[in-house]
Amino acid sequence: MKALIFYFSGTGNTEYAARYLQKRLANLSVELDLRSIENILPKDCAEFDLLIIGFPVYAGAPPEFFQEFVNSLPAVNKKGIFVFCTRAMFTGQAIANVSDNLSDKGYIPLGHKIIGMPGSDGLPFMNNNSKYVQRALKKDYSNLSKIDTFADKIAYVINEINQGKSVDSMRRQPPKEIPLLSRVFQLLWNLGYKFAEKKIKPKFWVDEKCINCQLCIKQCPSKNISMKNGFIIFDTHCYMCMRCINQCPREAIQIGKGTINKFRWKGPMGDFKPECK
Ligand SMILES: Cc1cc2nc3c(=O)[nH]c(=O)nc-3n(C[C@H](O)[C@H](O)[C@H](O)COP(=O)(O)O)c2cc1C
Ligand code: SF4
Ligand code: SF4
Repeated sequence: MKALIFYFSGTGNTEYAARYLQKRLANLSVELDLRSIENILPKDCAEFDLLIIGFPVYAGAPPEFFQEFVNSLPAVNKKGIFVFCTRAMFTGQAIANVSDNLSDKGYIPLGHKIIGMPGSDGLPFMNNNSKYVQRALKKDYSNLSKIDTFADKIAYVINEINQGKSVDSMRRQPPKEIPLLSRVFQLLWNLGYKFAEKKIKPKFWVDEKCINCQLCIKQCPSKNISMKNGFIIFDTHCYMCMRCINQCPREAIQIGKGTINKFRWKGPMGDFKPECK
Protein backbone atom coordinates (compact mmCIF):
# COMPACT_ATOMS: atom_id res chain seq x y z
CA MET A 1 0.00 0.00 0.00
CA LYS A 2 1.18 3.54 -0.81
CA ALA A 3 0.01 6.34 1.49
CA LEU A 4 0.55 10.08 1.35
CA ILE A 5 0.43 12.72 4.08
CA PHE A 6 -0.19 16.05 2.38
CA TYR A 7 -0.45 19.31 4.28
CA PHE A 8 -0.05 23.03 4.28
CA SER A 9 1.82 24.84 7.04
CA GLY A 10 2.31 28.60 7.28
CA THR A 11 4.40 28.77 10.44
CA GLY A 12 5.44 25.18 11.12
CA ASN A 13 2.75 23.77 13.44
CA THR A 14 1.02 21.57 10.89
CA GLU A 15 4.30 20.52 9.34
CA TYR A 16 5.53 19.47 12.78
CA ALA A 17 2.34 17.47 13.38
CA ALA A 18 2.65 15.84 9.94
CA ARG A 19 6.29 14.84 10.52
CA TYR A 20 5.51 13.59 14.03
CA LEU A 21 2.74 11.43 12.55
CA GLN A 22 5.05 10.14 9.83
CA LYS A 23 7.58 9.05 12.48
CA ARG A 24 4.88 7.30 14.52
CA LEU A 25 3.79 5.38 11.42
CA ALA A 26 7.31 4.46 10.33
CA ASN A 27 7.06 0.79 11.35
CA LEU A 28 3.94 0.04 9.32
CA SER A 29 4.08 -2.11 6.21
CA VAL A 30 3.15 0.82 4.04
CA GLU A 31 5.13 3.18 1.81
CA LEU A 32 4.46 6.57 3.37
CA ASP A 33 5.28 9.82 1.56
CA LEU A 34 5.03 13.33 3.05
CA ARG A 35 4.47 16.46 0.94
CA SER A 36 3.49 20.05 1.38
CA ILE A 37 0.81 21.07 -1.13
CA GLU A 38 3.43 23.50 -2.40
CA ASN A 39 5.32 20.49 -3.78
CA ILE A 40 2.61 18.30 -5.22
CA LEU A 41 -0.26 18.70 -7.67
CA PRO A 42 -3.74 17.40 -6.84
CA LYS A 43 -3.64 15.02 -9.82
CA ASP A 44 -0.42 13.43 -8.49
CA CYS A 45 -2.27 12.28 -5.36
CA ALA A 46 -4.02 9.72 -7.58
CA GLU A 47 -1.08 7.31 -7.35
CA PHE A 48 -1.59 6.82 -3.58
CA ASP A 49 -3.98 4.27 -2.05
CA LEU A 50 -4.63 6.29 1.12
CA LEU A 51 -4.46 10.02 1.88
CA ILE A 52 -3.76 11.70 5.23
CA ILE A 53 -4.65 15.38 4.97
CA GLY A 54 -3.43 18.12 7.33
CA PHE A 55 -4.03 21.88 7.50
CA PRO A 56 -4.18 24.83 9.90
CA VAL A 57 -7.62 26.22 10.77
CA TYR A 58 -8.20 29.75 9.47
CA ALA A 59 -11.39 31.50 10.57
CA GLY A 60 -12.99 28.25 11.74
CA ALA A 61 -12.42 26.59 8.35
CA PRO A 62 -9.66 25.20 6.16
CA PRO A 63 -7.66 27.98 4.43
CA GLU A 64 -9.44 28.79 1.16
CA PHE A 65 -6.44 27.88 -1.01
CA PHE A 66 -6.18 24.54 0.81
CA GLN A 67 -9.85 23.82 0.22
CA GLU A 68 -9.29 24.63 -3.47
CA PHE A 69 -6.46 22.07 -3.59
CA VAL A 70 -8.71 19.48 -1.95
CA ASN A 71 -11.55 20.31 -4.34
CA SER A 72 -9.19 19.65 -7.26
CA LEU A 73 -8.32 16.11 -6.16
CA PRO A 74 -9.41 13.57 -8.77
CA ALA A 75 -12.65 11.66 -8.24
CA VAL A 76 -12.03 8.08 -7.07
CA ASN A 77 -13.81 4.84 -6.35
CA LYS A 78 -13.57 4.28 -2.59
CA LYS A 79 -10.21 5.60 -1.44
CA GLY A 80 -9.62 6.08 2.30
CA ILE A 81 -8.78 9.46 3.84
CA PHE A 82 -7.77 10.61 7.31
CA VAL A 83 -8.06 14.33 8.08
CA PHE A 84 -6.32 16.37 10.77
CA CYS A 85 -6.03 20.05 11.53
CA THR A 86 -3.99 22.18 13.90
CA ARG A 87 -5.66 25.11 15.60
CA ALA A 88 -5.39 27.47 18.54
CA MET A 89 -8.93 27.71 19.88
CA PHE A 90 -11.87 27.19 17.56
CA THR A 91 -12.17 24.54 14.86
CA GLY A 92 -15.66 25.28 13.57
CA GLN A 93 -16.57 22.85 10.81
CA ALA A 94 -13.07 22.66 9.37
CA ILE A 95 -12.78 18.87 9.41
CA ALA A 96 -16.28 18.33 8.05
CA ASN A 97 -15.68 20.87 5.25
CA VAL A 98 -12.79 18.81 3.92
CA SER A 99 -14.32 15.38 4.56
CA ASP A 100 -17.74 16.20 3.09
CA ASN A 101 -16.33 17.57 -0.15
CA LEU A 102 -14.16 14.52 -0.58
CA SER A 103 -16.96 12.09 0.31
CA ASP A 104 -18.85 13.49 -2.67
CA LYS A 105 -15.88 12.48 -4.85
CA GLY A 106 -15.75 8.88 -3.71
CA TYR A 107 -13.27 9.22 -0.83
CA ILE A 108 -14.10 7.41 2.39
CA PRO A 109 -13.44 9.21 5.70
CA LEU A 110 -11.66 6.82 8.07
CA GLY A 111 -10.81 9.13 10.98
CA HIS A 112 -9.87 12.64 12.00
CA LYS A 113 -8.03 14.57 14.71
CA ILE A 114 -7.94 18.16 15.98
CA ILE A 115 -4.54 19.15 17.37
CA GLY A 116 -4.07 22.20 19.60
CA MET A 117 -1.09 24.43 18.79
CA PRO A 118 -0.03 28.04 19.51
CA GLY A 119 -2.03 30.58 17.48
CA SER A 120 -0.02 31.73 14.48
CA ASP A 121 -2.41 34.65 13.99
CA GLY A 122 -1.62 36.23 17.36
CA LEU A 123 2.01 35.35 18.11
CA PRO A 124 3.78 38.06 16.03
CA PHE A 125 1.77 40.72 17.87
CA MET A 126 2.85 39.51 21.31
CA ASN A 127 5.71 40.51 23.58
CA ASN A 128 8.50 37.98 23.97
CA ASN A 129 7.87 37.74 27.70
CA SER A 130 4.06 37.49 27.50
CA LYS A 131 2.47 34.51 29.24
CA TYR A 132 1.12 33.11 25.97
CA VAL A 133 4.53 33.19 24.27
CA GLN A 134 6.29 31.70 27.28
CA ARG A 135 3.72 28.89 27.45
CA ALA A 136 4.16 28.21 23.73
CA LEU A 137 7.94 28.04 24.15
CA LYS A 138 7.88 25.85 27.25
CA LYS A 139 5.39 23.27 26.03
CA ASP A 140 6.83 19.78 25.50
CA TYR A 141 6.17 19.00 21.83
CA SER A 142 8.12 15.75 21.86
CA ASN A 143 5.15 13.81 23.24
CA LEU A 144 1.82 14.73 21.70
CA SER A 145 -0.73 12.21 22.94
CA LYS A 146 -3.40 13.35 20.47
CA ILE A 147 -1.17 12.53 17.52
CA ASP A 148 -0.12 9.27 19.18
CA THR A 149 -3.75 8.09 19.41
CA PHE A 150 -4.38 9.28 15.85
CA ALA A 151 -1.35 7.29 14.68
CA ASP A 152 -2.63 4.19 16.54
CA LYS A 153 -5.98 4.55 14.81
CA ILE A 154 -4.36 4.92 11.38
CA ALA A 155 -2.10 1.93 12.05
CA TYR A 156 -5.08 -0.19 13.09
CA VAL A 157 -7.08 0.71 9.97
CA ILE A 158 -4.14 0.10 7.65
CA ASN A 159 -3.49 -3.31 9.22
CA GLU A 160 -7.15 -4.25 8.83
CA ILE A 161 -7.15 -3.18 5.18
CA ASN A 162 -3.88 -5.04 4.56
CA GLN A 163 -5.56 -8.14 5.97
CA GLY A 164 -8.39 -7.88 3.48
CA LYS A 165 -11.04 -5.75 5.19
CA SER A 166 -12.81 -3.37 2.79
CA VAL A 167 -12.15 0.37 3.08
CA ASP A 168 -15.91 0.93 3.06
CA SER A 169 -16.41 -1.17 6.21
CA MET A 170 -13.92 1.07 8.09
CA ARG A 171 -15.83 4.28 7.30
CA ARG A 172 -15.98 6.79 10.14
CA GLN A 173 -18.35 9.72 9.71
CA PRO A 174 -16.78 13.19 10.12
CA PRO A 175 -17.93 15.26 13.13
CA LYS A 176 -21.66 15.96 13.11
CA GLU A 177 -23.06 19.34 12.12
CA ILE A 178 -22.43 21.74 14.99
CA PRO A 179 -25.48 22.91 16.96
CA LEU A 180 -27.29 26.14 16.15
CA LEU A 181 -25.54 28.25 18.81
CA SER A 182 -22.12 27.19 17.58
CA ARG A 183 -23.20 27.94 14.02
CA VAL A 184 -24.09 31.48 15.04
CA PHE A 185 -20.73 31.75 16.83
CA GLN A 186 -19.02 30.42 13.70
CA LEU A 187 -20.73 33.04 11.56
CA LEU A 188 -19.65 35.85 13.88
CA TRP A 189 -16.12 34.42 14.14
CA ASN A 190 -15.95 34.30 10.35
CA LEU A 191 -17.20 37.85 9.92
CA GLY A 192 -14.68 39.03 12.52
CA TYR A 193 -11.87 37.33 10.64
CA LYS A 194 -12.94 38.67 7.26
CA PHE A 195 -13.02 42.17 8.76
CA ALA A 196 -9.58 41.75 10.38
CA GLU A 197 -8.15 40.28 7.18
CA LYS A 198 -9.29 43.26 5.13
CA LYS A 199 -7.68 45.63 7.61
CA ILE A 200 -4.44 43.67 8.03
CA LYS A 201 -3.57 42.68 4.44
CA PRO A 202 -2.63 46.19 3.23
CA LYS A 203 -0.52 46.78 6.34
CA PHE A 204 2.44 44.52 5.50
CA TRP A 205 5.67 46.49 5.10
CA VAL A 206 9.41 46.05 5.44
CA ASP A 207 11.59 48.11 7.76
CA GLU A 208 15.20 49.28 7.39
CA LYS A 209 16.63 46.00 8.74
CA CYS A 210 15.88 44.25 5.40
CA ILE A 211 19.03 42.96 3.67
CA ASN A 212 17.31 42.10 0.36
CA CYS A 213 18.00 38.38 0.79
CA GLN A 214 14.70 37.65 -1.02
CA LEU A 215 13.88 34.67 1.21
CA CYS A 216 10.37 36.05 1.70
CA ILE A 217 9.83 36.15 -2.07
CA LYS A 218 10.94 32.53 -2.38
CA GLN A 219 8.87 31.27 0.55
CA CYS A 220 5.58 33.10 0.05
CA PRO A 221 3.01 30.44 -0.92
CA SER A 222 0.77 32.93 -2.72
CA LYS A 223 3.56 34.68 -4.68
CA ASN A 224 2.41 37.88 -3.04
CA ILE A 225 5.89 39.33 -2.44
CA SER A 226 8.23 40.82 -5.02
CA MET A 227 11.02 43.34 -5.38
CA LYS A 228 10.54 46.74 -7.01
CA ASN A 229 13.28 49.34 -7.37
CA GLY A 230 15.31 47.50 -4.74
CA PHE A 231 12.45 47.37 -2.21
CA ILE A 232 10.30 44.46 -1.04
CA ILE A 233 6.64 45.04 -1.87
CA PHE A 234 3.43 43.15 -1.09
CA ASP A 235 0.59 42.56 -3.55
CA THR A 236 -3.06 42.01 -2.61
CA HIS A 237 -3.44 38.22 -2.80
CA CYS A 238 -1.90 37.35 0.58
CA TYR A 239 -3.12 34.10 2.22
CA MET A 240 -2.41 35.57 5.68
CA CYS A 241 -0.36 32.48 6.51
CA MET A 242 2.10 34.57 8.61
CA ARG A 243 5.09 32.77 7.17
CA CYS A 244 7.03 35.78 5.88
CA ILE A 245 6.79 37.77 9.08
CA ASN A 246 8.07 34.84 11.15
CA GLN A 247 10.73 33.56 8.76
CA CYS A 248 12.47 36.82 7.80
CA PRO A 249 16.03 36.43 9.18
CA ARG A 250 16.12 40.13 10.11
CA GLU A 251 12.59 40.30 11.56
CA ALA A 252 12.15 43.17 9.12
CA ILE A 253 8.60 42.36 7.99
CA GLN A 254 5.92 44.17 9.95
CA ILE A 255 2.15 44.43 10.00
CA GLY A 256 1.41 48.04 10.83
CA LYS A 257 3.21 48.99 14.04
CA GLY A 258 1.81 46.12 16.13
CA THR A 259 4.60 43.65 15.33
CA ILE A 260 7.66 45.86 15.84
CA ASN A 261 10.02 44.25 18.36
CA LYS A 262 7.45 41.54 19.01
CA PHE A 263 7.79 37.75 19.04
CA ARG A 264 8.52 35.62 15.96
CA TRP A 265 7.49 31.93 15.85
CA LYS A 266 9.51 29.29 13.99
CA GLY A 267 7.39 26.26 14.77
CA PRO A 268 7.22 23.99 17.83
CA MET A 269 10.93 23.12 17.73
CA GLY A 270 12.05 26.56 16.56
CA ASP A 271 13.49 25.12 13.35
CA PHE A 272 10.70 25.42 10.76
CA LYS A 273 12.00 25.82 7.23
CA PRO A 274 9.11 25.71 4.75
CA GLU A 275 9.36 23.16 1.99
CA CYS A 276 8.74 25.25 -1.10
CA LYS A 277 10.09 25.24 -4.63
C1 LIG B 1 -5.26 33.84 9.28
C2 LIG B 1 -5.34 32.89 10.44
C3 LIG B 1 -6.57 32.53 10.95
C4 LIG B 1 -6.66 31.65 12.03
N1 LIG B 1 -7.89 31.28 12.47
C5 LIG B 1 -7.99 30.41 13.49
C6 LIG B 1 -9.28 29.98 13.95
O1 LIG B 1 -10.32 30.35 13.42
N2 LIG B 1 -9.33 29.13 14.99
C7 LIG B 1 -8.20 28.68 15.61
O2 LIG B 1 -8.33 27.92 16.56
N3 LIG B 1 -6.96 29.04 15.19
C8 LIG B 1 -6.84 29.90 14.14
N4 LIG B 1 -5.60 30.26 13.69
C9 LIG B 1 -4.40 29.67 14.33
C10 LIG B 1 -3.85 28.49 13.51
O3 LIG B 1 -4.89 27.63 13.09
C11 LIG B 1 -2.87 27.65 14.31
O4 LIG B 1 -1.91 28.43 14.93
C12 LIG B 1 -2.20 26.61 13.43
O5 LIG B 1 -1.58 25.65 14.23
C13 LIG B 1 -1.18 27.22 12.49
O6 LIG B 1 -0.58 26.19 11.77
P1 LIG B 1 0.68 26.40 10.83
O7 LIG B 1 1.81 26.83 11.72
O8 LIG B 1 0.93 25.05 10.26
O9 LIG B 1 0.35 27.40 9.81
C14 LIG B 1 -5.48 31.13 12.62
C15 LIG B 1 -4.23 31.50 12.10
C16 LIG B 1 -4.15 32.38 11.02
C17 LIG B 1 -2.80 32.74 10.48
S1 SF4 C 1 13.28 37.91 4.09
FE1 SF4 C 1 13.45 39.80 5.28
S2 SF4 C 1 15.54 40.49 4.94
FE2 SF4 C 1 15.09 39.00 3.33
S3 SF4 C 1 14.31 40.25 1.63
FE3 SF4 C 1 12.53 39.59 2.79
S4 SF4 C 1 12.16 41.28 4.21
FE4 SF4 C 1 14.24 41.54 3.46
S1 SF4 D 1 2.69 37.68 2.07
FE1 SF4 D 1 0.91 36.66 2.93
S2 SF4 D 1 0.84 34.67 1.88
FE2 SF4 D 1 2.89 35.52 1.56
S3 SF4 D 1 4.11 34.60 3.20
FE3 SF4 D 1 3.39 36.62 3.91
S4 SF4 D 1 1.51 36.16 5.04
FE4 SF4 D 1 1.95 34.34 3.77
